[in-house]
Amino acid sequence: MKYKPVALTSVILIVAATACSTAPVPDDQPYGPYTNLQVLSGDWSELEEVMLGNLRGLGLRRTGGEGCLHCHVGSMQTSMETWDYASDAKRNKRSARQMLRMVKNINEGHLSNLPWRTENSIQVTCYTCHAGRTNPTPLPDVLASHYDSAGIDATVQRYEELRERYYEGDAYDFRESSLIRLAAKLQDREAHDDALRILELNVETHPQSASAHRGVVRYVAERAVETDGETGLRAVYPQLTARHVAGAFVWFTLDRVGWDFMGAGKVARAMTIFNYNVEVYPDHAGPVNSLANAYLRTGDTTEAISKLEASLELRPDQSQWVGELLEELLDSRR
Ligand code: HEC
Ligand code: HEC
Repeated sequence: MKYKPVALTSVILIVAATACSTAPVPDDQPYGPYTNLQVLSGDWSELEEVMLGNLRGLGLRRTGGEGCLHCHVGSMQTSMETWDYASDAKRNKRSARQMLRMVKNINEGHLSNLPWRTENSIQVTCYTCHAGRTNPTPLPDVLASHYDSAGIDATVQRYEELRERYYEGDAYDFRESSLIRLAAKLQDREAHDDALRILELNVETHPQSASAHRGVVRYVAERAVETDGETGLRAVYPQLTARHVAGAFVWFTLDRVGWDFMGAGKVARAMTIFNYNVEVYPDHAGPVNSLANAYLRTGDTTEAISKLEASLELRPDQSQWVGELLEELLDSRR
């Protein structure tokens, strides 16, 4: 008994399928008759508006119906009228149906609960999140997941394709910080050569950008200290200054690397960086302050005090915390 309705349904579906291949398309149902609407009504003017909204929101081409094929089964070699719009074979269509439900809930549910909303208040559309992208995931995440499935070469290629396709719009953030974030993700995966390749790609893409160059400088310096300590740093740093734009070298370039080591609990390595930075920027108080902090972390209050004193001597007018910290340390010794 239990299975009977199911069997009956399939019979009806088969009959319906046979019927629709021969039945003439009703005038009020272009590309119809519609047999698989689960969210929308069968009204063409609504359907058309929603389908065109899909194209706009996801940045798909309208010409020749090409963009419709992102979700629907068919081919550019056959006429649009013959495509199988009712089919749910494509995953994108199934995702899109869920999106249609979600957008409806947002507009007719959550937003309509705001009492001051009027007829003219803005509605959420596909564009609100997708902004002309087929998938709204931010660039570093898109690329990182591409990396996980397809490797570094494919990821570089994907970046170039996306940049080519989307650069004019503001769908993706193509500023330097995106590839820097991607490199950090690859570093988390311990894929060091690949992370460096991405940072180099950033420099190739933004040859004038100090922050892109800084990305490489920091990474190379960090790896050098990680693997060969001070010797490593002394070996690579002059090469870096020869290869990268002057703007990449400011006192906080290496300082950040030192603080990353501090954050990871690698105080000795941080100290290597800070000491070297003091050498490179002898007139700046910043590197000395960082060094004082590293000494504090190791419990060497005497050295910390002497560094803070040196720092105040360099820049008596610097921010208050330095003087306050020094007072505190001196007090604790009395
Ligand atoms: C982003 C995905 C997406 C795009 C792009 C898209 N559609 Fe759809 N389309 C859907 C979804 C989802 C449904 C089902 C809606 C429902 O269940 O109520 C649908 C349903 C339809 C239907 C009704 C099918 C049936 O028999 O039930 C037609 C006709 C249709 N679309 C035509 C088009 C045309 C023409 C284009 C291009 C101009 C287009 N669609 C672009 C997702 C899309
Ligand atoms: C509130 C934000 C939001 C809105 C509005 C929205 N989407 Fe999405 N959409 C997402 C997110 C987030 C994902 C990624 C889901 C995932 O991959 O887990 C996504 C994924 C998709 C995908 C699958 C992409 C892929 O690569 O697998 C399609 C197709 C899609 N959306 C279509 C639409 C359509 C059509 C609309 C408008 C009717 C729409 N979306 C409105 C947030 C939104």
